[in-house]
Order: sequence, then structure tokens, then C-alpha cells
Amino acid sequence: MALLEPITGLLRFTTAGSVDDGKSTLIGRLLHDSKSLYEDQIEAVRRVSRDGLELAYLTDGLRAEREQGITIDVAYRYFATPKRRFIIADTPGHEQYTRNMATGASTATLAVILIDARKGVLPQTRRHAAISHLLGIRRLVIAVNKMDLVAFRQETFEQIRAAFLEFSSRLGACELAFIPISALDGDNVVDRSGRIPWYTGPSLLEYLESVPDESAPAHQPLRLPVQFVIRDAANSRAYAGPIAAGEVRPGDEVLVLPSRKIVRVQSLPSREGAQERAFRPMAAAVALADEVDVGRGDMLADPVQPPVAARRFRARVVWMSERPLELQTVYLIKHTTQTVCAEAVEMVSRLDIETLEEGACKHLRLNEIGTVEFETHRPIFCDPYAVNRTTGCCILIDPATNLTLGAAMIESAEEGGGTRRGLPASAGRGMTVWLTGLSSAGKSTLGQALYDRLWAMGHKVEMLDGDTIRRNLCKGLGFSKEDRDENIRRIGFVAELLTRNGVVVLVSAISPYRSVREEVRRQIGSFVEVYVNSPLAVCERRDVKGLYRRARSGQLPGFTGVDDPYEPPENPEVECRTDLETLQESTERVLRYLESRLV
Ligand code: ADX
Repeated sequence: MALLEPITGLLRFTTAGSVDDGKSTLIGRLLHDSKSLYEDQIEAVRRVSRDGLELAYLTDGLRAEREQGITIDVAYRYFATPKRRFIIADTPGHEQYTRNMATGASTATLAVILIDARKGVLPQTRRHAAISHLLGIRRLVIAVNKMDLVAFRQETFEQIRAAFLEFSSRLGACELAFIPISALDGDNVVDRSGRIPWYTGPSLLEYLESVPDESAPAHQPLRLPVQFVIRDAANSRAYAGPIAAGEVRPGDEVLVLPSRKIVRVQSLPSREGAQERAFRPMAAAVALADEVDVGRGDMLADPVQPPVAARRFRARVVWMSERPLELQTVYLIKHTTQTVCAEAVEMVSRLDIETLEEGACKHLRLNEIGTVEFETHRPIFCDPYAVNRTTGCCILIDPATNLTLGAAMIESAEEGGGTRRGLPASAGRGMTVWLTGLSSAGKSTLGQALYDRLWAMGHKVEMLDGDTIRRNLCKGLGFSKEDRDENIRRIGFVAELLTRNGVVVLVSAISPYRSVREEVRRQIGSFVEVYVNSPLAVCERRDVKGLYRRARSGQLPGFTGVDDPYEPPENPEVECRTDLETLQESTERVLRYLESRLV
């Protein structure tokens, strides 16, 4: 048997075009003519086609389904030829879908930009090219489509080429290829066309097969944003997440951010047994040799070449919302595996998409591109986008609606930084918000959501979480009634100090005994009790830390709710039924109550 030819270099590319430029047809044609379709897919398209085989249905049909309820609409399509494997990030083409391009293109090294031969270079063409360049794509294929509708005239093609070159000369370094095609008929898509004799270059597929592999180099310093913590049966922990850069092996030293501890990697556990190494873009789990505090949003990084831990950064922003980007507005920033509150503190400039010149601005409107300085509430661990597209990129989200508003490519970031200029000084009224409830009822989750919102409103906020406190202030305490009461008294003591100093303190602790809760209430005075209530059965089903399971199997005696008491509050200021309402509803409920007390 002949050996299969080795498959070389994966090519990730994106496609951009305006409505009706024929993008769907082109992708359908690529898949069809390169024999990447199954018979039943072809049959399905044939059934809905009015006229022969309308390949646009192949992608459009799927798109209609996806469009329901998905904010960022990018579909990835995979195909392979004997020479190469391809991933296409396919994004709808209308102007308002700029956002899809910005996100879909972020792993691509090449963009195919479609131009309708009858229409020539349009504003959208320029925008697509500018955004592709902004996203770090340095190779553009300008596919001049519908050549059949202009009688395959060379003059038309040359005019379009000249117009695009005039614009792109201002874009900065970029490899360009111009190919005249007809996606509908297949000319120069996979096979060279006999109808365009004046063109002697490669077909689109031939070109895509021949470009060098320019994806990110493997040898970059390690960046592993932690997505979740895995606990095994023996309760030892591993930190799992997608490797954004570099590689990791047992024995390596890694820097844990934000704590800045340097720890040795003990092993890389996986379902298939311990791994020898893990590298980008794999997801990996890392067990560390020492006990350290690591949670979601933290990062394991190369200690010699660490990322910047920044609370202030400058970024290129592609704005995608009808509501303009403005100063002194709080946004959520999703960066790798963490979401932080942020504010635009300086509008540096706006890019004119026609002339590619930078000008002053006060805000960014829908589809505009600009340079903006942000300050964040917690540090993000980032690199410039030019160095790492994952740790250098973030998405801006509306905290009220959770909708995506824009994408930001980090240009530079300051270690530390951040003055939170522009936010009102703390509202000054301290109080303790005490979240009590069973394990897995949702206390910490609600606490975190409240923390972000209160911070965004300008309050000084602090979080005292049972699990964290028990590793520090209350280390060594157990779970007898006496120890639990002592735990609560210590938390109450710290909460009182902070409350007195104008801080809104969020306590999340089971705090099962009513009398000691009443005791700290009296001591603190400005005290709001929130009963985070969810039936035991639901908490047990969630079993976030796997402790109910251990308690039921007898490995964890005296577990609250199983064989230890929980005394629900009799008169809580707020009660949240986390089994019946969403996190957002619970958060709003507590905030509404606090509003009356904070002003
Ligand atoms: S409290 O009862 O003293 O208020 P606290 O909220 O600080 O408890 O700590 C509870 C955490 O300790 C739980 O989330 C769980 O991770 C851990 N834990 C370990 N053993 C027990 C136990 N027997 N009962 C309750 N929680 C336990």
C-alpha cells in the first residue's frame, strides 16, 4: 500500500465580502470542487436549488440556524486537499457584521477579500482590508468575482487592482494576490479557467495551497490562562486551561499570576495518563508541586518572560454597537479566561477608513476603529497583540445586557498602572453584606457578581470568602460548632473594621448558626443578611466541589446539610432562590435593596 502523502501546514484563513459578492458560493465551490463534501450534503443542496446546484445553500442554510441567539456568528469549515488542511472562518459579509470578522479572523493568517467585478472597490472592501491588517493578517487575496458578468474583461480587473493598490499602499506591509474568478461557474477557484487566457497566475486553491505557513511560532514564553480547577478523588488540584503560548513540562518552573509565586510543575495529568509535555494550542491541566491559591482567570506563565500585569492599557478597538464607545462608562472586558470591569479613560484617535489617517475623536460609533486607553479594575495578564493574538486581545461587553460591544487589540500595557480616574470616589458608606447558605447554593458566585457591579458603581468593595479565609485567617479551624462560630467571629471582626472604613464588604460563608450571625450583626451595625437559598437536593446536584459526594460516602463527616445543621435566617433582608432565578436576577435583587441603604 502506498504511503499517504504527509499533510503539511494547516492554513487558517478568513473570507470577507459584502452581501451578494458571492462569498457563500465561493466557499461552497471550494468545498465541492476540492471534493470535501459528502454525497448527502450535495444531495441536500440539489434538493433546494432551483437551478442546478446552488452552492450558496451549503453555507447559507447553516447560517440561518446559527443566527438565532448567537452574538458572535462565526462558522468554521474544515477541508483538506492532498497538499494541505484548511480552516475557514466564515463570517457574514454585511457591514454591520464587522464584529464577526474581528473575532473570526483572529487566528487566521490570510484573508480572502471578495470584490464584485461590476462594483469594484467599495468602502466595505477598504474596511475589510483595514480590519484584516489590524488583526495581524499580512496576506490578502483579492478575489475579483463575477468575472463572467463583465465578459472576463482584463481592463476591468486591472482597474480594480489599481484602485485597491492605491489604497493598500497606505496599509503597511502586506502580501497581495489578485485573482479573477467566477465562483458560480468555478473559474479559477479550484481549476484554472480556460475562459480567462490573459491571467496566467494560480487558481485560488492553488494559491492557498502554496503560501507558506505563517502561524504563530511554537517557541514563545508560556501563557496558560486558568479556566477551571480540577480536584481529583484524593482532593489534589490541577489547573486547567487552553495554552495561549509556549509549552509546559513536568519540572518546569512557572510564575503564578497575580500572586507572583514561582512554583514547580509536578505533573500534567490527563484522562489518558500523565503527559510529557503540553503546548499551544492544546488545553492542559497542570498540577503544581506546592500549595498555591490559583483560580479561574489567574495565569501560569514563563517566570523569565512574564506577561504584563496591567491595569492600564492602550488598544486598537473595533466598535460594533449602535451605542457609541464613550469615556466614563463601565464595560466588562473578557480577556482570556477572566472578565473584569473596565473604563475607557482616553480616546486617543480614530482611523479614517477611506484615507487611513488618524484623527482626534470623542467617541467611537458603530463599525468605527480607534485607539483607546482603558483602565481595569483587576489586572489583566497580557502581551501586545502583535506578539500574542490570544493574550493580546479582548472583547468588550455591556454589563447590563451582556452583549458584545467591541473587540480590542492591545498595543501596549503598563505594569501595574491604573488610577481609576474619572470614577467617583467611594460613595463612602460602608456596610457588610453577609451571604449565608448551604455549600453550592451560589454564595461565591453571587458575591463575585455583586463585587463587580458595586465596584463599577464606584464603591470600595472587599470580598471575604469562607474558603479563602479558612486558608489564611482561620487556618487550622475545623467544622465543629465551636470552630465554625470562631470562624464567623473572626470574619465578623475584619468585616467590622472594613465597614467602619467605608468599604462594602461581601462575606460569603455557610455560617450555619443563627446566634453567631446575630452576634456579628449587632457588632457591625450596618449589616445586610442575604439568604442564598437553594434546596439541598439542588445544591447536591450542583456539588461544585464534589464534597456532597464525599459526605454521602462517609468520607467527610459533619458536612453541612448532610449530617450537620444549617439554621436558615428567620428575617433576612434579602432572599435569593438561586434554583428559581438567574444569577442576574439575584444580583439585581440584592442591588435594589442595597441602593436604598447606600445612598
Ligand atoms: S462555616 O460553616 O464555618 O461558615 P465556611 O463557609 O467558612 O463554613 O467554610 C465552608 C467551606 O469549607 C465549604 O465550602 C467547604 O469547601 C469546606 N468544608 C470542609 N468540610 C466541611 C464541612 N464539614 N462542612 C461544611 N463545609 C466544609
